[in-house]
Amino acid sequence: MIRRLLIGLAAAALSTPAFADEPGPGGTKPPVARTGEEVYRTFCQACHMADARGAVGAAAFPALAANPRMGTTAYAAYVIANGKGGMPWFRDTLSKEQARELIAYIRTHFGNDFREPVTPDDVAAFGQPPPRR
Ligand code: HEC
Repeated sequence: MIRRLLIGLAAAALSTPAFADEPGPGGTKPPVARTGEEVYRTFCQACHMADARGAVGAAAFPALAANPRMGTTAYAAYVIANGKGGMPWFRDTLSKEQARELIAYIRTHFGNDFREPVTPDDVAAFGQPPPRR
């Protein structure tokens, strides 16, 4: 079973180089999420949903939409940097700039209206090297 899966993966890996030299629509580099919306779509929407209303299924994903806790920048930043329960941490995945754009975005979208700027202190925990294991 595992063996068949590995063979399938190897075949898939071998079949991709044919396309590797062809530039995609955005050039040859993979696109980097820069705006808060792009970061949200790339890293958060899978669990918190496109409308940020969360979901209940295999796990409970809380709504970020109309969520008064988003008013506390330090709280949102802490959860995003360090993870919580079933949520992974992002301190080594997101740069400080990405974190700033993302947090400002969720604080001012999805029915949230917290306009105080995100400060460098708020995002100091981001842009860290991956943890050693
Ligand atoms: C793998 C699924 C998953 C991903 C990806 C994910 N989250 Fe979460 N998130 C969760 C879960 C589950 C919780 C609830 C954790 C708990 O309270 O135990 C949560 C909680 C939160 C909370 C706290 C909400 C509250 O009311 O206390 C915030 C803020 C948050 N997530 C933001 C984000 C952002 C921003 C991203 C993208 C960088 C993100 N999450 C990516 C699953 C995810």
